[in-house]
Amino acid sequence: MFVTHLQLADFRCYQHADIELQPGVSVFLGANGQGKTNLLEALVYLATLGSHRVATDAPLIRSGAERALVRAKIQAGLDDSRQLLAEVELQLGKANKASINRSPLRRVRDVLGSLRVVIFAPEDLAIVKGDPADRRHFLDELATTRWPRIASVRAEYDRVLRQRSALLKSLAGQRRLSDEAEITLQVWDDSLAGFGAELVAARMATLTDLLPLLEDSYAQLVEVDPGAKAQY
Ligand SMILES: Nc1ncnc2c1ncn2[C@@H]1O[C@H](COP(=O)(O)OP(=O)(O)O)[C@@H](O)[C@H]1O
Ligand SMILES: [Mg+2]
Repeated sequence: MFVTHLQLADFRCYQHADIELQPGVSVFLGANGQGKTNLLEALVYLATLGSHRVATDAPLIRSGAERALVRAKIQAGLDDSRQLLAEVELQLGKANKASINRSPLRRVRDVLGSLRVVIFAPEDLAIVKGDPADRRHFLDELATTRWPRIASVRAEYDRVLRQRSALLKSLAGQRRLSDEAEITLQVWDDSLAGFGAELVAARMATLTDLLPLLEDSYAQLVEVDPGAKAQY
């Protein structure tokens, strides 16, 4: 899979960008702050619906603009000339939109899976140096790329967690739970456990597949025993 064409409108510093790409290595050369990483970030966004640098969409929209557009033509393979046009529109304060081959998608997250990318950036050091949440996030992103379905599991997990927390907050200070509260809590508990189990299974399967690659790559860099290890 490779990108043959990248188009941006009002994304980061680009009012407009139109870039043809070839299979193989592309190098973007320029002064600091010129917008090289922004190009990669745009592709990361299209592939994961998130940025590797910021947690919200707002900084991705060019200052002064209301919306940003990332559009890429994606070719299935070197010997496979099938092409896909994937597009995401980020809107300030409104729901984003996505389309494939110019047909609007019902849910933005249905665009996941049309482009698969791997980014390696200074921010990736957080996988080693950062909080456990950074490592879980890394695994979740990877799992979502492999199984786009995981995007809805994550969304549901977050939703149930928010609702369960809101319920617990509203019950704070009560000495005895009413039967109704107890039943509702049980429903959220079961739901949270169900989605949580799916997510944990996806993380573990991903880590299991990643582990031999991690060990091999690390051994090629550093010949020490023990080499790199990871466990969940
Ligand atoms: N939302 C935004 N609107 C306009 N410009 C932005 C926005 N976000 C970042 N920039 C600009 O993008 C530039 C940084 O781009 P970046 O791709 O990180 O540079 P580099 O070429 O060093 O990788 C800076 O000049 C910054 O001001
Ligand atoms: Mg950069």
